[in-house]
Amino acid sequence: MLIVWKAEFVIDDGIIDDDHKFLVSTLNQIISTLNRGTDNGAFLYSIRELRDFAIVHFRREERLQEIAAYPDRAQHRCEHGVLVEQLDAIIHQIDSSPRDHSVEDSAALKHFFYRWILGHIIDCDLKIRPFVVGLDTSAERSLQHVAA
Ligand SMILES: [Fe+2]
Repeated sequence: MLIVWKAEFVIDDGIIDDDHKFLVSTLNQIISTLNRGTDNGAFLYSIRELRDFAIVHFRREERLQEIAAYPDRAQHRCEHGVLVEQLDAIIHQIDSSPRDHSVEDSAALKHFFYRWILGHIIDCDLKIRPFVVGLDTSAERSLQHVAA
């Protein structure tokens, strides 16, 4: 089952939503890779790409929270750190395993990725929305210059 983006996930109607859509599309590619078989090389390549993009996206989101004076941004930043650590743990586990992952591993990984993106958007990111509604468009534009 692939991850489906829904209008109810909208945060800023801008770059953060674009990032989230890209993350969903990257995760769906990873899930498709898992569905095709047990090729660790392709899986590792995709998950490293996911990690690299997620780091840039998290910095953008944290910058937006600063601009919007979002009160729980320290906690949110910690959540982002946990999400990256979870990807690092998977990369390390696959990288150091001499065997390709099993069908059981794939099912667990697919469930993990589903929760990894949607759990965070629903439980954490949606709380930002009331603080960014009506922000000046220059704030939104400044996010484009945030880099890893
Ligand atoms: Fe977030």
